[in-house]
Amino acid sequence: MADKKRVGVLISGRGSNMEALAEYKRIADPAYSIVLVASNVPEARGLVVARRFGIETWAHSHKGMERAEFDRMMDEELRRHDVEVIALAGYMRLLSPEFIARWRGRILNIHPSLLPLYKGLDTHRRALVAGEQHAGCSVHVVTEDLDDGPVISQAKVKILPRDTPESLAERVLAEEHKLYPAALDKFCRELN
Ligand code: GRF
Repeated sequence: MADKKRVGVLISGRGSNMEALAEYKRIADPAYSIVLVASNVPEARGLVVARRFGIETWAHSHKGMERAEFDRMMDEELRRHDVEVIALAGYMRLLSPEFIARWRGRILNIHPSLLPLYKGLDTHRRALVAGEQHAGCSVHVVTEDLDDGPVISQAKVKILPRDTPESLAERVLAEEHKLYPAALDKFCRELN
């Protein structure tokens, strides 16, 4: 496919979803190409993984910086790489309203719950405590409100009797790795 959408992935840690997004081109011909992986945590493991894929990386600690100032710097870097779509993949920091406004409708996030249930952190423990039958993950468009924008894709995972937050997280993560590349691909294909 000729005109692939240029994607910037934002991470803060392990980066296994970013890795799944990057891996996808080995099994499909996605409508996206990752041109930059950026992080607010310079020691994030995902940066090492990205470099192994030959993807350019940018990292800068947000510590001691105003949120808007940090986001402006990251925005410049994304534009320098002609990024068209942003994929949050374990980016553990709220984005400033200014940043979200500049990229409106072009930022996706993956969240480990069946949104609108269990926004925020600690989703698996909360789902278990509530006695849910299913957990899962969602890909949604990012808006100013945390984990709140329109959901574009979801996968359900059955909760088993002996599940712990850790065992459930592991099975949900495996679904995230399948869901996110396919959702980003479809999103980019349908974007003008
Ligand atoms: C994933 O569970 C994702 O859904 C959530 O943060 C975690 C990031 O994991 N937003 P990784 O860095 O992609 O491995």
